Amino acid sequence: MTLRYSRVIPAAVLLILAVVGILLLELPAKEVEVPPEHMYGIVLDAGSSHTSMFIYKWPAGKENDTGIVTEHSQCHAEGGGISSYAGVLGGAAKSLKSCLDKAVKDIPKSRHNQTPLYLGATAGMRLLKIDNTTETERILKEVENKLRSYPFNFIEATILSGQHEGAYGWVTVNYLQENFAKYGFAGRWLNPGRKTTGALDLGGASTQITFQTSDKVEEGDNMMELKLYGQSYRLYTQSFLCYGQDQFLRKLLAHLIKTQGVKPQVVHPCYPQQFKMSIKLGMDVFDSPCTKSYKPDKFDPQMSVTVVGTGDYQSCQAAVMKMFSFDNCSYSKCSFDGIFQPSLKGNFMAFSAFFFTVRNLFSLNNITIASPSKMEAAVQYVCNMTISEITETTKQPEKYMKNMCVISLFIKVLLTKGYRFDELSLPSISFQEKVEGASVGWSLGYMLSLSNMVPAESLSLMKALPPGPWAGILFLFIALLLFALGYLLISLFNTINKEGPV
Ligand SMILES: *[C@@H]1O[C@H](CO)[C@@H](O)[C@H](O)[C@H]1NC(C)=O
Ligand SMILES: *[C@@H]1O[C@H](CO)[C@@H](O)[C@H](O)[C@H]1NC(C)=O
Repeated sequence: MTLRYSRVIPAAVLLILAVVGILLLELPAKEVEVPPEHMYGIVLDAGSSHTSMFIYKWPAGKENDTGIVTEHSQCHAEGGGISSYAGVLGGAAKSLKSCLDKAVKDIPKSRHNQTPLYLGATAGMRLLKIDNTTETERILKEVENKLRSYPFNFIEATILSGQHEGAYGWVTVNYLQENFAKYGFAGRWLNPGRKTTGALDLGGASTQITFQTSDKVEEGDNMMELKLYGQSYRLYTQSFLCYGQDQFLRKLLAHLIKTQGVKPQVVHPCYPQQFKMSIKLGMDVFDSPCTKSYKPDKFDPQMSVTVVGTGDYQSCQAAVMKMFSFDNCSYSKCSFDGIFQPSLKGNFMAFSAFFFTVRNLFSLNNITIASPSKMEAAVQYVCNMTISEITETTKQPEKYMKNMCVISLFIKVLLTKGYRFDELSLPSISFQEKVEGASVGWSLGYMLSLSNMVPAESLSLMKALPPGPWAGILFLFIALLLFALGYLLISLFNTINKEGPV
């Protein structure tokens, strides 16, 4: 009897161990199935020139999977950016109404109170804050009250720093390209250790460059450390205030007025020949912190000035170059205006105004800007066109198309002279508006980061095991199970044989 139990017990213990082991490996990796209902999130991108609303959605309970969040819909608010309502009580709040009403209809009612609502304001509000802090705070508060009056889960209405704007854009790009981690079969995280893509954003009032670097970041303000799915990323990020396309145009105009003197006419080499437009010195030129250093001592802000285009590529380039300062670098290397920048690394994605300008440039002359010389040729071609040639080819309003030459030249100088993209690195930039149907910009990355949908820690160790070791351990437990079963059978067989039939 004692002999019999002493053989069966260890075998039974082994058997239980093996079964428990297999269950432990298999069970946590299988997600509980949930009905395919969606969750939603709303981000208002309050830019300097206008506000856009993005509604995102993802399958309920799967928020931590990469690449699972998609864009449900978007809405463009009428009128200017919220900063343009300085001094207009209720104006900023009213400008958001039509988009928020659309969100109420777009999102199923049962999900309203679980839908996070964020508003991030960027360089337009950063500039207003330099001029008038109290008015900036008042607009933010007014907008917040408006957002709170809707049935959603209001999270915040805030001004993003330039560094955060850059970093969130980078998160969006790499999330949409699934560069962070992949949710593999059997519900386990596989980290492919893929290279990340740098982000280039061009707005109305600022521009951002952000990329992963292993170089020493010599200026603390340019350094951002992110932890996503348990991995650390060291980013270099820089936001250039006043280098968004609208503020850049203002600065260029201010520079030309300063050099030519305050007169009823200003000659502008970057506008097409025979092109004329009328501007007001205050509202259109000098009412901005970006043009402060060009301000004449005495001028009438109400004075109208006629801008006359000459379509002169060389003079335009010379004027555009003057807007950048390439000396006085106190670090080992700089991009421009004395700002540190490590060596460019990896591929880049350029979006927002970069994308729209390059798309229009291509539609005008079919030249892909695969090298600095091709880019030069493409821009030169456009700068020699008349305004009617441009509008007829692109089928877009003169309001935007008049700036094709100057904005293309600005982008060319910014990328090749400012950031120093060259023969090798310029072709690594892909100009895109969307990836997998979602708009590329900072707003998705902002929502993902604030809602912890790109968690800092990796998910449970069990899920994080790469497929190789995981399969190995499973194999060991199965071998143990077979061994225990065999042992148990043999010892039972032996005992029956020994005792023999009764
Ligand atoms: C996502 O990850 C965060 C942080 O690890 C965790 O708190 C949250 O519960 C996770 N959500 C899901 C649905 O797994
Ligand atoms: C800020 O803006 C408000 C509203 O336009 C105005 O009344 C106030 O004088 C401004 N303050 C400064 C310091 O410019």
